Amino acid sequence: MIYADYNGSAPLHPSVKEYLCERIQSGPYANPNSIHSIGKKMLFGMEKCRRVCAKALGAKAGQIVFNSGSSEGISQVFHSVMSDRDDSRNIIITSGIEHSAVVQSCEYYSNKGAEVLTVKTKTSGVVDIEDFANILKTNSDKVAMVCIMAANNESGVIQPWKEISKLCQEHGVTYFSDTTQFIGKTEFNFEESGMDFAVVSGHKVGALIGSGFIIAKDPTTLRPIIFGGGQEKGLRGGTQNYMGIETLAVAFDAFERSKDKLSELAQYRVEFEKDVQEAFPKAVIIGDDADRLASTTMIALPGVHGQAVQIELESQNIFVTTSSACSDNEPETSKVLRAMGIQDDVGRGVVRISLCCGAAREDYQKIATALKAAYAKLSGISNY
Ligand SMILES: Cc1ncc(COP(=O)(O)O)c(C=O)c1O
Repeated sequence: MIYADYNGSAPLHPSVKEYLCERIQSGPYANPNSIHSIGKKMLFGMEKCRRVCAKALGAKAGQIVFNSGSSEGISQVFHSVMSDRDDSRNIIITSGIEHSAVVQSCEYYSNKGAEVLTVKTKTSGVVDIEDFANILKTNSDKVAMVCIMAANNESGVIQPWKEISKLCQEHGVTYFSDTTQFIGKTEFNFEESGMDFAVVSGHKVGALIGSGFIIAKDPTTLRPIIFGGGQEKGLRGGTQNYMGIETLAVAFDAFERSKDKLSELAQYRVEFEKDVQEAFPKAVIIGDDADRLASTTMIALPGVHGQAVQIELESQNIFVTTSSACSDNEPETSKVLRAMGIQDDVGRGVVRISLCCGAAREDYQKIATALKAAYAKLSGISNY
């Protein structure tokens, strides 16, 4: 079996699995906010995890607010920025390739009177930095926030977040980047990023589902959306998911130790794409000429339906998706691909293959063999 849907949800990292098996057996279990000695032990452990995550990501421990994952993080950042802004700052600048958690947050505040300006995306899948710079320059004193992702979940295309961050700093505008697919898949240093807010989702990095955090340059600018007993310095009510938090620390620690394998992964991906394109020269790699996550390929053979390819691969025990898990049920080209100007014959044909740091060359080779067989069968071209 080859699981190639890490962008949808990553299986538990082997170190996390090992840690959890032992942890569940031995305990302790207690509320980290209780004042008895077991509670204090839990609190001490949780704060250690905060320091481990912060260190791995170039942040300070106090800048990390644990939560349930990125949809919650995104909602809280929007709520915080939009409820505290000056009345004169009514514009949100975003892109056309954001995850639905960002899209719907924008819609929510648009229904409440905010103006949402969408930056163009180039056919490469990269947000158009010149368009962004013009929009920002023209409106800078009216902008409440910029929300543009760091890496796209469907194509894996890395966005010009460094330039965006620099421009936001020059114009004194808040920059929130949805870093869900970026952090834990490539090098990241929050302090150097210049971002005001970033988000992390546990189930994208091999930690437990239902865990995650916000990194905030100035956490006092956050406002709670879940009220409770003052946990997370009053920024997120509810007993912390301490077991999930522990797995986040284990996952980031493991990533720190394995990230030198990222260049190998990128190499395997290049070989895989070359192999398929040599056999099927009409195969289209989405974001081919852009900088992409080492782990992600989105590929289509025009005229061959992505769902049919997915079923063929599944019959070989290889698990991929069409577009993203969230837009898999859309019968049409996803909005991300439409924003890139991709036509339906390609858009309906895409499958996304997403692996992880540590994947083997043989995994890619097996996927290539199965994908070529699927293309041959479904397109009627057998002499590739
Ligand atoms: C780019 C991006 N943002 C946000 C999310 C939402 O993350 P979560 O599942 O942790 O709520 C996802 C998940 O697919 C994602 O890919």
